[in-house]
Amino acid sequence: MRAEVRADYEAALHVVSGDDAFAVRFERFFTELRDPLVGLYGEDARFADAFARLLKAIAATAQGRSRELRMLDHEREVTPDWLQREQAVGYVTYVDRFNGTLQGVREKLPYLRELGVTYLHLMPLLGARPAPNDGGYAVVDYGAVEPSLGTLDDLSALAEDLRAQGMALCVDLVLNHVAAEHPWARDPAFLRTFATREEPDAYERTLPDVFPDTAPGSFTWSDEHEAWVWTTFNTYQWDLDYTNPDVFVAMAEAMLGLARAGVDVLRLDAAPFLWKRLGTNCQNQPEVHELLQAFRAAMRIAAPAVAFKAEAIVAPQDLVPYLGTGKHEGKECDLAYHNVLMVLLWSALASGRVGLMTSTLLAMPPVPPGAGWLTYVRCHDDIGWAITPEDAARVGEDAHLHRRFLADFYAGEFPGTFARGARFQPDPRTGEARTSGSCASLAGLESAPDELAQELAIRRILLLYAIAFAHGGLPLIYMGDELGLLNDASYLQEPDKADDNRWMHRPRMDWAKAGRRNDAATVEGRLFAGLQRLVAARRSTRAIHVQGIVEPLWTGNDHVLGLCRHQAGESLLVLGNFTPVAQPVARDALRGFDVTDQAGDVDGRPVEHQQDFVVLAPYQHLWVR
Ligand code: GLC
Repeated sequence: MRAEVRADYEAALHVVSGDDAFAVRFERFFTELRDPLVGLYGEDARFADAFARLLKAIAATAQGRSRELRMLDHEREVTPDWLQREQAVGYVTYVDRFNGTLQGVREKLPYLRELGVTYLHLMPLLGARPAPNDGGYAVVDYGAVEPSLGTLDDLSALAEDLRAQGMALCVDLVLNHVAAEHPWARDPAFLRTFATREEPDAYERTLPDVFPDTAPGSFTWSDEHEAWVWTTFNTYQWDLDYTNPDVFVAMAEAMLGLARAGVDVLRLDAAPFLWKRLGTNCQNQPEVHELLQAFRAAMRIAAPAVAFKAEAIVAPQDLVPYLGTGKHEGKECDLAYHNVLMVLLWSALASGRVGLMTSTLLAMPPVPPGAGWLTYVRCHDDIGWAITPEDAARVGEDAHLHRRFLADFYAGEFPGTFARGARFQPDPRTGEARTSGSCASLAGLESAPDELAQELAIRRILLLYAIAFAHGGLPLIYMGDELGLLNDASYLQEPDKADDNRWMHRPRMDWAKAGRRNDAATVEGRLFAGLQRLVAARRSTRAIHVQGIVEPLWTGNDHVLGLCRHQAGESLLVLGNFTPVAQPVARDALRGFDVTDQAGDVDGRPVEHQQDFVVLAPYQHLWVR
């Protein structure tokens, strides 16, 4: 410890009382907590007081941890890859849409176990403003569960049930903004306010619009404050001002509260937006990383079992820093969404070609040690077609034309398309748009006129999930995909949802369909069993552990993806045919991998050998070990 840090540390030591493990962590991570905060707020008169409150909250959280949670803290300290193992499989759902309340979710844990889930991400569940509230992303009370879903005690009880069954609980924490009705939003010092349009106009020159269609601009007039308030997202989601140390501490207290409730993972919503800088897009600013390192250090001292996952849907070079260690040697997040892989999966499915995916994945920066991807096919958000000019140019494509093609294709407006989705936030000037729609509807299940088309749609869904499961990382199953739930148009009847078509892919769980999950003659049965096979394949493949390396391989056939993984002397090659017709791959292109008959077991169809070639059936995936 440097002398000035030691002085601060010694002054703070009174918060440590008798708990040796806490004392060790307090010393070990004190610098990582203090340095970024001093860098951000050292000159601020409010800081000393804020820092003292933060330390008190950290100590209270550590002291309040039950024996069981303390054991978990130790266990995860000695098993830092607990989220990154081949056994890990996630499931994402809204509490109310899945089964009404937190109590209702508890009743359905056997269903999740049957599927093979070890990690449950529940969408925003803290006290929210009345609708519209962006699906709960407009919080009025960080210290309480949304009353219609249950109580904090229910949340703890659920976390306990999950733990007993070897499952972890992830919940959303909305860091960037609060609901306009939140008590913090009464205090202008917690907000970014501007008396005139001058500064907002200057910022808007370089600020991208998140919801150009429904919430254009990034500022909203407030009569109460007689000022423009910063609102990156909807007009009722007011951005917090992280230049104020009191804001940091208030949010840290909210985080620690969730740790006390027994939550295992926090999904840090919209993390890139926390710091604003004139002349930039106000995302990924260096201060964002300082904030995250300080939050992380606070949590590592208070409750080291708790992990962070970044929701940072940004370009790869901007994304990887969220997984690393920053300027102050502090760790940031354990997990981050692999948005690029998700976009490339859908792109390859539409075009039937894998060149763009292969070359873009080859150019991805590696994940820093100790961190991992979340791999996914669908989530509650739209798909933003983040294909850059550089990525497209590498395979001789035009990024703009390809993005337009994808928006048309998945809106169901391209000749021969199988998809039935919708445009989200279309930009009439460029013809580009993001895409809404459920996995099954985008993959052709909704449009399927006959059994053959239905079979192809099922195969497409399983192919995308196979790549997400094999890539390495923690794969997420988005609720309903395991049963092929289609787009749900009912949101159009609800006035506070009707203008946001992301609700089409946030259906209510269909328990009648779930009841058919073990009937192999049904769509539900085929999908559910297909996903169960993927879970089992992951479990028995050590090469999938996140610490392995993933390496795309050119198969010599532009319609067949090749993905290799190596870890601890084991290797895996996954081949995937992205077209509805049979595709040959020459054996010599496979770097010595020997395609045996077992390679077809996960997909469930036999392997076809033809002289020097392996022939993949429509949308077939092979797991070669
Ligand atoms: C995240 C969420 C999205 C929400 C936004 C604002 O991007 O995934 O659904 O609209 O944050 O909270």
